[in-house]
Amino acid sequence: MPRVRLALWAAAVLAACGLGLLLIPRGAPEPGPAAVGGPFTLTSDKGTRVKSSDFDGTYRLIYFGYTYCPDVCPTELSRMASVLERLGAKADRIQPLFVTVDPERDTPDVLRAYVKHFGPRLVGLTGTPEELKPVLSAFRVYSRKQEQAGSAVGYLMDHSSVLYLMGTEGEFITFFTADDAVEDIAERLAALP
Ligand code: NI
Repeated sequence: MPRVRLALWAAAVLAACGLGLLLIPRGAPEPGPAAVGGPFTLTSDKGTRVKSSDFDGTYRLIYFGYTYCPDVCPTELSRMASVLERLGAKADRIQPLFVTVDPERDTPDVLRAYVKHFGPRLVGLTGTPEELKPVLSAFRVYSRKQEQAGSAVGYLMDHSSVLYLMGTEGEFITFFTADDAVEDIAERLAALP
């Protein structure tokens, strides 16, 4: 179990998605528990209640974003799909998950129509704001509504863009960002025990 120290900078504004930067130093281990993630109960894009323990026995790749995201989310979800394609049969032991930071608009129906564009196995998860809040907090996800005056979409969500790799019991293993090449992520996942 790697020990990591987390630091959150909700500072830089990047691209149209307005990224909050989540920086998790990957350097020397420091004291303290690896406190990323945790159990959750949410609603799937099929409208069923889903517990994190339902995925026990499989690794999970978890990305937090929202379906109205103009650029960053589709880009990262496409990269996740490419990673899984590269893995071939080894992808079967990894469950890709997309958790919304915009439950107001991302209903199960909206999520279902969206996730199918990023591979057959991607599961979308939503919930009430009250359900999602502790999950976002546990994964150190930064998100904030940004009103867009005069825009048809109404608002965007500033959000951190991090792909989490969790273990077969939901424990944190590592994370990837846009700086990690698809080939490198695939290599890391292929090497999982
Ligand atoms: Ni996004």
